[in-house]
Amino acid sequence: MLTIQDYQEIIKQKIADQNFDHAPIELYEPITYTMSLGGKRLRPTLTIMTCDIFGGKIEEAVNAALGLETFHNFTLLHDDIMDKAPIRRGEPTVYMKWDANRAILSGDTMMVFAYDYLLNSPKDLLFDLFTVFNKVGKEVCEGQQYDMNFETAEQVSIDEYLEMIKLKTAVLIGGSMHVGAIIARADSEQCKLTYDFGENIGMAFQLQDDLLDAFGDTSIFGKLTGGDIRTNKKTYLYLKALELASQEDRKRLIDLYSILDEDNDEKVKEVLALFNKYKISQLTRDLMEDYYSKAMIHLKEIQLSKDKEQILISLADSLMMRNS
Ligand code: IPE
Ligand code: IPE
Ligand code: MG
Ligand code: MG
Ligand code: MG
Repeated sequence: MLTIQDYQEIIKQKIADQNFDHAPIELYEPITYTMSLGGKRLRPTLTIMTCDIFGGKIEEAVNAALGLETFHNFTLLHDDIMDKAPIRRGEPTVYMKWDANRAILSGDTMMVFAYDYLLNSPKDLLFDLFTVFNKVGKEVCEGQQYDMNFETAEQVSIDEYLEMIKLKTAVLIGGSMHVGAIIARADSEQCKLTYDFGENIGMAFQLQDDLLDAFGDTSIFGKLTGGDIRTNKKTYLYLKALELASQEDRKRLIDLYSILDEDNDEKVKEVLALFNKYKISQLTRDLMEDYYSKAMIHLKEIQLSKDKEQILISLADSLMMRNS
């Protein structure tokens, strides 16, 4: 039986084997740069792991897995422009290293590469695979648009935030598992439960991302921390603090989140102090635990053997503890 590290190793090797170098170099160089910078390779790992757990052939899932990772990396190129983020995976973001036009066009090309990869999946499954992939792809864009809308929205509810992170992040994590289950030819009930497990883990994953953005260590996280605060992202951290704050602190938070200046270090410090005052980290952890528990309920319903179930639990546990 394979371990999580084995699955990751398979994916790492497959990505290392890819060649994105074509002409013009200006278009393809950022693709090679991004794809070779690593990252956790979470989504493709989930795809081949899920396929294997349901008794499918890993080789049949590898192309779809590469497609999902390439799609994910494409969203990062555009996301970093949208979020004005200077660093990713410990290195300059594509639009900073080159320029926004190249990040846009290289990103677009990666989206097409993603389709090419997926197209090399078992022929009889293409309709089902593309149906899942296209739904997820549109939802990610919807989530990203809500994320942008919320930067300047006066009022955002916690429910609206949760729907936004479901769309921008959780559906792709659920979808990566769903695709693996389809390729293993799992039945539709098992596919659905697997997706639901992944989606709930994906919710905890984005909450952890938001926590790390505020409280993480840039040298480990690989992204400049405080970015969400600088760009007035209405994260759970902020919304929960608003809910709990005294009238005075609430007013201050709202004022701080009306500042449009990404270089304002004082603002970041003051917001973090308010988050600490209202114990926001712990409250965010609590919500992550709720999603983890929901994921576990779906997992039990899938009725896998204990050792297979354990792999998915271990992966979920490692994501709950991650600091990068
Ligand atoms: C970053 O995804 C975008 C989010 C959905 C938070 P990851 O945290 O999986 O980034 P990499 O691929 O490991 O760099
Ligand atoms: C990212 O959310 C979601 C997508 C890229 C689709 P974030 O904006 O929080 O991701 P990071 O923190 O930049 O990786
Ligand atoms: Mg973003
Ligand atoms: Mg971002
Ligand atoms: Mg983030």
